[in-house]
Amino acid sequence: MSSGERLFQRVAVIGLGLIGGSLAGAIRKNGLAGEVVGADQRKEDLLLGQSLGVIDTIAETVAEAVQGSDLVVLAVPVKATRKVLEEIRPHLAAGAILTDVGSTKSGFVKDVEAVFGEFLPRIIPGHPIAGSERSGIRAANPNLFANHKVILTPPENVSRFHLDRLRALWEGCGATVLTMSVAYHDEVLAATSHLPHLIAFSLVDTLAGEDENMDIFRYAAGGFRDFTRIAASDPVMWHDIFLSNRDAVLRVIDHFTHDLDQLRTAIADQDGATLLSVFSRAKAAREHFSKMLSGQAYVTKNSENQVTFRLQPGGTVTGDIRVPGDKSMSHRSIMLGALAEGVTDVKGFLEGEDSLATLQAFRDMGVAIEGPTEGFVRIHGVGMHGLQAPRGPIYLGNSGTGMRLFAGLLAAQPFESELTGDASLSVRPMNRVADPLRSMGAVIDTAEGGRPPLKIRGSKDKKLTGIHYDMPVASAQVKSCLLLAGLYAEGTTSVTEPAPTRDHTERMLTGFGYKVERHGPTAKVHGGGKLTATAIDVPADISSAAFFLVAASIAPGSDLVLRHVGMNPTRVGVINILQQMGANIEVMDEREIGGEPVADLRVRSAELKGIDIPEDQVPLAIDEFPALFIAATCATGRTVLTGAEELRVKESDRIQVMADGLAALGVVTTVTADGIVIEGGQTIKGGSVHSHGDHRIAMSFAVASLRATGEIEIDDCANVATSFPGFVELAKKTGINIAAEGAARAAEQGVH
Ligand code: S3P
Repeated sequence: MSSGERLFQRVAVIGLGLIGGSLAGAIRKNGLAGEVVGADQRKEDLLLGQSLGVIDTIAETVAEAVQGSDLVVLAVPVKATRKVLEEIRPHLAAGAILTDVGSTKSGFVKDVEAVFGEFLPRIIPGHPIAGSERSGIRAANPNLFANHKVILTPPENVSRFHLDRLRALWEGCGATVLTMSVAYHDEVLAATSHLPHLIAFSLVDTLAGEDENMDIFRYAAGGFRDFTRIAASDPVMWHDIFLSNRDAVLRVIDHFTHDLDQLRTAIADQDGATLLSVFSRAKAAREHFSKMLSGQAYVTKNSENQVTFRLQPGGTVTGDIRVPGDKSMSHRSIMLGALAEGVTDVKGFLEGEDSLATLQAFRDMGVAIEGPTEGFVRIHGVGMHGLQAPRGPIYLGNSGTGMRLFAGLLAAQPFESELTGDASLSVRPMNRVADPLRSMGAVIDTAEGGRPPLKIRGSKDKKLTGIHYDMPVASAQVKSCLLLAGLYAEGTTSVTEPAPTRDHTERMLTGFGYKVERHGPTAKVHGGGKLTATAIDVPADISSAAFFLVAASIAPGSDLVLRHVGMNPTRVGVINILQQMGANIEVMDEREIGGEPVADLRVRSAELKGIDIPEDQVPLAIDEFPALFIAATCATGRTVLTGAEELRVKESDRIQVMADGLAALGVVTTVTADGIVIEGGQTIKGGSVHSHGDHRIAMSFAVASLRATGEIEIDDCANVATSFPGFVELAKKTGINIAAEGAARAAEQGVH
């Protein structure tokens, strides 16, 4: 890179400690500036910095460093900031950026305002979340920021141009840049960094003061070492940080002290349930750390989640498999188990992100839940009125079912709550539940257009009232939402559906001993009853089995057995439709388990033919159409789908996204307002398909590869983990030639 192309001509780094020195070194190493000049009170550090190659030039004074620099980085101890800013101000060039690297941001903002009289649009506070218990220029490391996060807290009037350049500088050092407000930064850091440091300092100090301190330290093993590593951090720096982030730190210390006290009481009182609840909640939170973080608003970029499927064409599908547990039933098992009296054991629970989000939400509301371990979950029910207010928003990931069912449940609680989700969930319609809940007396705010987040203002002074609701759309989620609210409402709540939809809520309520009346298309509950714990055996999800039903049908020479598949009559549309198309699906060993029909399915390849899909099958196969579109493409003759406008508001617009994906593979379709027309027998070519982060789109195109003539690449597949963890492994095992790229991360997310 010639110096003309460098991001900055001259960067002044004021303060050559660990962070300043590492940044200076990283800028030099990555060729991001023409010249890096250092200023520091300690002459010997400057000389060392120069000899180590961390800086190009030594400035005798701050003024000398700042003059002629187009970027000035303040990396001095927080407490020295104001004095140094005073030295910088008269020399800062008109177009130069001023940034810092301090751990607290409101203090820096105050200092800037005091010195400059205003917050200039090119002053951009920053904080690299990287460090080490080591300090000083000797510990400087030009790779310190690689794969770390840097938070920038730009003022509202920030100059975009300058912000982009500063962002590019940090990215050039290997960091991921996030932006957030100053106040939010300080709250987050007080909790995630400052409090742990305080506890580490305090714990080591306490133990060092105990009489047996020698023994304690001698016998202290890994746990103590891991936990207290940060107590070796720079005392002066940390003293500055605590004093400058005083208010946020005090808040989080109070919170922690309160919770610690609760644990003390639980131990004193031999209260095992509280201990179990707190520990299992913490264990799960720690295990899902990265996912939970990626759901928080301050993460601006989700690129860590990029998973691409690459499929080689052809193959035969054989074997004997069991797909993961039913998503709908998994959600409901946790919900009803949590509200029941007693302990509910669940087998076959789907360990996908959607149902795990539901599980975590109940932990956040004080329910002790053990597992999941290989599909086994034990829920210590708290009873209908035992939920506690969650501390923050409940994040439901990709799950529309989660959000709609929680809306009903939480509308009836005596506390306020907020439901949020990922980008896909955040644009899905929620008025379909908010409106009828409001007519029961619930107070719910949505974002514009009835979109999430949902702010639910439950209150102990107001009870819901039962209503009768004629659903305008056939939706099991809406029905279930209202029935759950109805458990708490005065009087009766009844819901009439325009067409049959999945009835897992009604069946499972009955299993938990709660009476649900059915009169034709109407389901009815009386409020005020209770649920009694039970055992639940979740069958394999027919929606996940569907991909393999289609795969084995379209791939010549296939013969596959799918075990223990849920065969609820409100879910078997996919089998009915495939059989009508000529599929060879044998239903074996039909049985009933825990109030739900289950069977093994044997599917062999068959010549499929196009059909007009009967509209009454649409709600019964609502999640399976992406896979069915692939079957239709491989059939002979025309398949026509009508009455399926609901597909447009699923995790993606499944009509358009499937049509676009098929078009990318050379298959022409005709999209209509409420369906699609697919002429079968067209060649599926190789190509690149956008899944729009929709798990079922991704898996459907993976299946299409069996009849393709070239390689298929499918992007944005991380969300497959929402409903089908282990899909890639299982698909491979049956004979689909699939590889997942970005797989290290995919494995973390359960895509495997
Ligand atoms: C579900 C109901 C369906 C379905 C979803 C799960 C449920 O949604 O698409 O995947 O568990 O109740 P609608 O009720 O909105 O049709």
